[in-house]
Amino acid sequence: MQTSAPGKIILFGEHAVVYGFPAIAAPVSSLRTYAAIRPNPPGQSGLRIVLPTAVDTLVITREALDESLALTVDKTLKVLSASEPDVTIEITSTIPIASGLGSGAAVAAALSRAICMALDRSIDNDTLNELVYEIERIHHGQPSGIDNTVIIYEQTIYFVRGQPIERFQVGAPLHILIADTGQAASTKVTVRAVRDLYESDPQHTQQIFQIIGDIVEQARYLAAFGEIERLGALMTANHDLLRQLTVSSDSLDRLVETAIRAGAYGAKLSGGGRGGNMIALVPADRLDDIHAALLKAGAVRVIATSIQ
Ligand code: MEV
Repeated sequence: MQTSAPGKIILFGEHAVVYGFPAIAAPVSSLRTYAAIRPNPPGQSGLRIVLPTAVDTLVITREALDESLALTVDKTLKVLSASEPDVTIEITSTIPIASGLGSGAAVAAALSRAICMALDRSIDNDTLNELVYEIERIHHGQPSGIDNTVIIYEQTIYFVRGQPIERFQVGAPLHILIADTGQAASTKVTVRAVRDLYESDPQHTQQIFQIIGDIVEQARYLAAFGEIERLGALMTANHDLLRQLTVSSDSLDRLVETAIRAGAYGAKLSGGGRGGNMIALVPADRLDDIHAALLKAGAVRVIATSIQ
């Protein structure tokens, strides 16, 4: 028995979304966190969480869980008014951590779902979304809620903080390459950096947020009509504004430029920035060439996804 949750990319609007502007995000279903439920080994009891690490398999008892895993367990049990199940939950993930792809929210979602399954219970997505948002506060400080929402509903969404989610419609498939700089990045740090910028120059920073918000609205419109080339140009414009918010990096800029030079319609960083991943919107017949160019320019991993 196992549960899972996907990774995510932000197509448009990160950071400004924290301040109430719209953003668009998509799940990446090929990257997932899994939580497998197994009987406890003989002589062991209670809830055991197992996290395989690069070095060895790490077995964690409930008392020793890190803050976000412990909170996920506690909050799930509280929602269910239940005591801990007597099982081992083994977490594995293909979502790289600290890379802007939503691994923190995916781990929390998969673990919470596994606890429910082990107890033969369920919680609805709205409740799970609120629960994982609380966990996200540990990772991100002041999250907008977009990461947990796109991961839990596993749908491409147009999102405004505090408002019901809307489905993002595309008139033609979007082919996207996700390229990893290989540099770990903390969303908490970049969200804080944008907050500092906002506090030191509110008027200018608010103007940047506003332009990003306008880009998101245009992107929504163009995507619905399948205007992919113009959508790509908006992506690159969004990246330039994120640079002005100080959340890009040399590696991200290099990968963005490489993708465009190799024929992408447009590209931008995705997520918190200052490392992590960038995304490029590419013509289907250029996928392989742009993929190769990104690897040559230093990407440690490139994966393809599409939004239909
Ligand atoms: C991170 O994926 C997106 C940010 O806008 C933070 C958030 O919305 O919580 C940077």
